[in-house]
Amino acid sequence: MDRIVINGGHSLSGKVATGGSKNAALPLLFASLLANGTHRFNNVPKLMDIDSTAILLEHLDCTMHREGDQVTVETRTCAEPFAPYDIVRKMRASILCLGPLLARYGEARVSLPGGCAIGTRPINLHVEALGQLGAEMEVEGGYVHAWANHGLTGNTIVFENATVGGTENLLLAATLARGTTILENAAKEPEIVDLADYLRAMGARIEGDGSSVIHIEGVDQLQPAEHTVIPDRIEAGTLLLAGAISGGDVTVTQCVPGHLDALLKRLSDCGFELETGPDWMRIMPRSEWGAVDISTEPYPGFPTDLQAQFMALMTLAQGTSVITERIFENRFMHVQELARMGANITPKTQVAIVRGDSGALSGAPVMATDLRASASLVLAGLAAENETVVNRIYHLDRGYERLEEKLKTLGAQIERRSESEHPVS
Ligand code: UD1
Repeated sequence: MDRIVINGGHSLSGKVATGGSKNAALPLLFASLLANGTHRFNNVPKLMDIDSTAILLEHLDCTMHREGDQVTVETRTCAEPFAPYDIVRKMRASILCLGPLLARYGEARVSLPGGCAIGTRPINLHVEALGQLGAEMEVEGGYVHAWANHGLTGNTIVFENATVGGTENLLLAATLARGTTILENAAKEPEIVDLADYLRAMGARIEGDGSSVIHIEGVDQLQPAEHTVIPDRIEAGTLLLAGAISGGDVTVTQCVPGHLDALLKRLSDCGFELETGPDWMRIMPRSEWGAVDISTEPYPGFPTDLQAQFMALMTLAQGTSVITERIFENRFMHVQELARMGANITPKTQVAIVRGDSGALSGAPVMATDLRASASLVLAGLAAENETVVNRIYHLDRGYERLEEKLKTLGAQIERRSESEHPVS
């Protein structure tokens, strides 16, 4: 298994480009289940989660082909709308095949995804909402079996919590339902808008995406189309934070700064000077920065997917920061590992108190526990004295394309090594 070795303490500088968004690309690929023919997606990141999606789509009789960052999905009528446990367990977003399969074939059997390191992550809101479109459901043997013998029918659905995946599954299903569906308390993330844009290009009738109320007028049929995936706002934010924590001067290009308003505001509250253009943002060097509190919220609030990376920055801030995690119940797994590097953090149930004044971080062997926790350990390693070894980086590879290479172009002393090259001491 690979690990990342970082020799910290070097300021980063230069320009680095963001890739396509993982969380936008996944639902887009599942949208291709809605119409036979060739779907074309540009700016698709090369990541393990995209490979897992390819395996699932191939199981559902599609063929996925990649050339550079362009992916084509050739969709054929699916003989058996069935998503097995062995594929679904590798990636929770596999549940996004439920809506399109049900809408198109009137039936689907999809494995329940199970829990993951950051919490139980149920799919009750997806299932209940599909039930409101007329689907009947049965959960048996770890699978959800859903069917709608006479097709799905539009309805008004009020989500109890704004759920990103739930909103996407319902958007996908309602495009082919009879009549009008209204989604209330829908998620407003940019990835939802990107999905709606592609569905519209396919012939769907959708209005209101990006707000909390989405109207979908069902159509009889959709056609394949072409689409460019939006830039990954979480990767862009992570790269900007890498600049911040290293006291560097970093410009992140090919991004949408407007998708990161909450992060930019917080960085500016810390005392960082920032510049932004239509598709770039720059952070100026600072040797000291203030502590600020953050609380994760659905978009446009502070993203939970940047909480761990921001915490790494706060371990070196002047003063105390209170970090509240409101989206997931167990997303402080990075705290223990940051503590091994000398950070002073007191975790409570949903709150972590980070005392930045406790001095420098020192390099240590650490263990990545989930995707964003891995990124926070890499950031801490950039700022720490001496060598940090981040183990179990397969989590990082699920969501970041060549992060170490991108950081290297900014001057970081960072390398990927296989376990045999760098045994655990
Ligand atoms: C997506 C993102 C993930 C991000 C998260 C929140 C993808 C592939 N993943 O995950 O990176 O961290 O949004 O921004 O896009 N919930 C329920 N029942 C449900 C569904 C969700 O209780 O049926 C709860 C979850 O446990 C969580 C909250 O609602 O506490 C938000 O989850 P949700 O927005 O659905 O996250 P995902 O779509 O899984």
